[in-house]
Amino acid sequence: MRFLRDAIIGILVLALVIWIAAYARLRAGALSADEQPGTIERAVAARLVRLSIPADADRRSNPFAADANAWRAAVEHYEDHCATCHGRDGRGQTEMADNMYPKVSNLADARIQRLSDGALFHIIQNGVRWTGMPAWKREHSPDETWRLVSLIRRMPSLTRQEIDALDPSHAAESEKRGDHEHSGSDSSQPRR
Ligand code: HEC
Repeated sequence: MRFLRDAIIGILVLALVIWIAAYARLRAGALSADEQPGTIERAVAARLVRLSIPADADRRSNPFAADANAWRAAVEHYEDHCATCHGRDGRGQTEMADNMYPKVSNLADARIQRLSDGALFHIIQNGVRWTGMPAWKREHSPDETWRLVSLIRRMPSLTRQEIDALDPSHAAESEKRGDHEHSGSDSSQPRR
């Protein structure tokens, strides 16, 4: 009986100490968006994203898988809707990405490339809750989304010259962005 009482008191004291420590950390500004998430947080978050993808999404295949040029038709959509965060080359090194929490995924990374076509389709259509990744199903038809999946598949091997050659008008724009021009239309906002 005494043991039980001591154990309960011990647990309550421990909970109080943890609560005070967490509260103090929060008040010290621990929720700033420009920090890097730790390893455990990243692993748990990645698992949650995987869990949120329905099992039958993995079984859906890209209708454009056999079309080696399907990704070209997605470049303009990508430039308009994705590049502000993910970067023109998909590496996620943009002004916006560095200051977001969680960070913007590098689409050329092996972690993303290991996902099935159907999982990528699901992520683009539905977004990722509690992150900056929006849902795109109102903007992009299923076919447009599948072509974006084809583009993501090409990302590890796409060169910057290749992307610039496809869409020179946006190449000029991204140079302006590099100059940090914020007048007129705000280029840090995703354009619709
Ligand atoms: C406003 C910023 C923003 C825009 C615009 C955006 N994304 Fe994302 N995206 C994110 C963030 C942040 C993540 C990381 C989510 C996470 O941590 O799971 C992400 C993750 C992803 C992922 C991988 C999910 C994972 O498990 O990491 C894919 C694929 C993706 N985005 C594709 C796209 C495509 C395609 C577009 C354009 C149609 C797009 N994104 C537009 C911010 C954005």
